[in-house]
Amino acid sequence: MRRTRSRPQAYVAPVISSSDATSALPPRAARLIGLGSWLPPRQVDNADLAERLDTSDEWIRTRIGIASRHIADPGMATSDMAVEAGLRAMKAAGVEHVDAVVLATATPDHHVPGTAPLVAHRLGLSHVPAFDVGAGCSGFVYATTVAAGLIHAGTAGTVLVIGAEKMSAIIDPADRSTAPIFADGAGAVVLASGRAGEPGALGPVAWGSDGEHADAVQIPSGGSRNPSASAREERYVYIKGNEVFRHAVRRMDQVAREAATAAQWSIQDIDRLIVHQANARINAAVANALGVPPQHVPSNIAHVGNTSAASIPLLLSHAAVKGQLAAGHRVLVASFGAGFTWAATTLLWPSGLQAIT
Ligand code: UT7
Repeated sequence: MRRTRSRPQAYVAPVISSSDATSALPPRAARLIGLGSWLPPRQVDNADLAERLDTSDEWIRTRIGIASRHIADPGMATSDMAVEAGLRAMKAAGVEHVDAVVLATATPDHHVPGTAPLVAHRLGLSHVPAFDVGAGCSGFVYATTVAAGLIHAGTAGTVLVIGAEKMSAIIDPADRSTAPIFADGAGAVVLASGRAGEPGALGPVAWGSDGEHADAVQIPSGGSRNPSASAREERYVYIKGNEVFRHAVRRMDQVAREAATAAQWSIQDIDRLIVHQANARINAAVANALGVPPQHVPSNIAHVGNTSAASIPLLLSHAAVKGQLAAGHRVLVASFGAGFTWAATTLLWPSGLQAIT
């Protein structure tokens, strides 16, 4: 039994009838029905960074693949960007109401409360369940997996999933190993109830984590382990770049294969590989390990940078607008991030899907 609602009411889980349970229909699945994204207008290029850091345009382009990135003004918070992306995704989906909001972020407006309820409120979705998911750069795929579970169980009919980050708030402007990489922005999708295997339906997820590497991407202070920073740098993200690089390539190769196998696809079937935009060399290495040709791997890192949990929905919407994702494409999405966490899933790109950037 499925319900669609246009009025802002609390969603009530439907009773699953015995005929639904025994029907020959494929299982219920989350179906992508709209995409939106937003980038802050201010662009910072490599020459701007080289004015204050011991780095160069050439080093950043060749070692990371970034030429410029978008940085939010100081007065802007993650929720502001999330609202912009959420509005666009809902407009693209043609819906004015959703049953839940899930926000993936590593840069919430505050430690307490979560940022999603405020975002829901500002989207006119007051009273719907809204919560944050924190899984680093894998956060968006984790959040869509949680949302898909809500839909699969019949707990929600439509879910707005947003990935939004103000990475500039947690990056040391004086650290040349992070300042060139990370950037700000937001992307969002609306998921609705559909059937497994139909165009737009998210396939099975493959995901995992390894907390042994918890210190490879970390803000040393500000949490319960070490509430107050004794040194200035402890308030900012610190990365063990080489370690992250090696694990990112290995894990994304592995998890992408697992997701493809779970969807009963071979790697040769993949028309488009959407990889978390951490470093162009990481993405090239993952594509190479999988044997996916570079022209099948859309990328926006050159002018968007690494936006952590916003990276995947930003790339999906940019690639859709550019026509790089087209109806019938078999799309494999893979992500990796702090934790370590990793996640991958598949979908057959549907026709008529709107993306608003
Ligand atoms: O999204 C998940 C989180 N993402 C990440 O954590 C990023 C993953 N890692 C990476 O993208 C890469 O490891 C980095 C971009 C961070 C570093 O690239 P790398 O090729 O692994 O460089 P490296 O750390 O091995 O450093 C090579 C050299 C070093 O100099 P020496 O020791 O060879 O003299 C660094 O000091 O490059 C130097 N270096 C720089 N030089 C100019 C490091 N950062 C910079 C810089 N500009 N910004």
